[in-house]
Amino acid sequence: MIALGGLQIAHPVLNASGTLDALSAHAVLGDASLGCAAHVTKTITPLAREGNPAPRITEISCGLLNSIGLPGPGIDRFCAEVLPATAAIVDVPIVVSIGGFSIDDYALLADRLSPCPAAAAIELNLSCPNVKTGCLAIGSDVGETEAVTAAVRARFARPLFVKLAPGLADLASIARAAVAGGADALTLTNTARGMAMHRGTGEPLLGARTGGVSGPALRPQALAAVDAARAAVDIAIVGVGGIETADDARDYLAAGATAVAVGTAIFPDPGAPRRIAAGLVTP
Ligand SMILES: Cc1cc2nc3c(=O)[nH]c(=O)nc-3n(C[C@H](O)[C@H](O)[C@H](O)COP(=O)(O)O)c2cc1C
Repeated sequence: MIALGGLQIAHPVLNASGTLDALSAHAVLGDASLGCAAHVTKTITPLAREGNPAPRITEISCGLLNSIGLPGPGIDRFCAEVLPATAAIVDVPIVVSIGGFSIDDYALLADRLSPCPAAAAIELNLSCPNVKTGCLAIGSDVGETEAVTAAVRARFARPLFVKLAPGLADLASIARAAVAGGADALTLTNTARGMAMHRGTGEPLLGARTGGVSGPALRPQALAAVDAARAAVDIAIVGVGGIETADDARDYLAAGATAVAVGTAIFPDPGAPRRIAAGLVTP
C-alpha cells in the first residue's frame, strides 16, 4: 500500500480528472476504474454547466487540445446521483475533483462533500485553462491559493489534493501556499493553454478558440513542475502529463512524484493504466 497524502492506495497509478467516466466505462467495458488505484472524477462545479461551444477537442501533434469547459450536473445532483452511482461500481477510493469561480464556490463544494463518505478525498482544480474566471486565476495567485485551500481544509477532514497548472511563473511559492493552506498532496499538472488553426479557413479549430494541451507534448513541462515542486515542498505529489508507458511513469517518480495519473493515453487504450501499473512492478 502507498500513503498518498493520507489516502491509502494499492499502487501508484490513478486516472487524471476528466479522462475517465466511470459510469460509461462500466457500461461499455464492464470495468469502471480501468485498474487505477483510486478513481478521480471529472471536476464538479456548484451549479450545472453546459460547457464550451463545439468543437471541444482536436488532435494535435504529440497530444490533444481540449476545451471542454467543465460541463456537469452541479454539486447537488452529483452528490445525490453521480457519486452514489460511481461508488456502487468503483471498488477503489474516489477522489472528487472540484472547481469554482470564487473561494466561496470551493467552500460550498467542500460543505456538500464533507457528509458524503464516498468522497474519500478532494482534488481542488485550481488550474482549468478553459473557464474565464476562478480556477486558474485562483491557482496563479499565492494568497488566493492559500485562502482557497484553507477554506476547503476547514470544511473537509479527509485528504486534500491541490491541482496546479504547468508553466506557473512561481510554482514554488504557489506550492508552498497550498501546503500552508493545509494541502496533503499536489497534482501536477493540468493542461497547458494552447491553440490550433484550421489551415483552410484560418479559424481556430476549437469553438472556444483556445484549449488545453495534454499528452506527450505536455510531458516535459509537467515533469519540470514536479521537479520544481519537489524542491519546494515535502508533501506527496501526483505527476500527470503525457504518461503512456511505465517508463514515462518512472520519470515522474524519479523527479519526486509519489504517484502518477494517466489521462489522454486512456482514450486510444483503456488498458493503459493497468499496463503502466503492471510495468512499474516488473522492470
Ligand atoms: C478531455 C479532457 C478533459 C479534462 N477534464 C479535466 C477536468 O475536468 N478537471 C481537471 O482537473 N483536469 C482535466 N483534464 C486534465 C487532465 O486531468 C490532465 O491533467 C491532463 O490531461 C494532462 O494529463 P495527460 O497528458 O495524461 O492527459 C482534462 C483533460 C482532457 C484531455
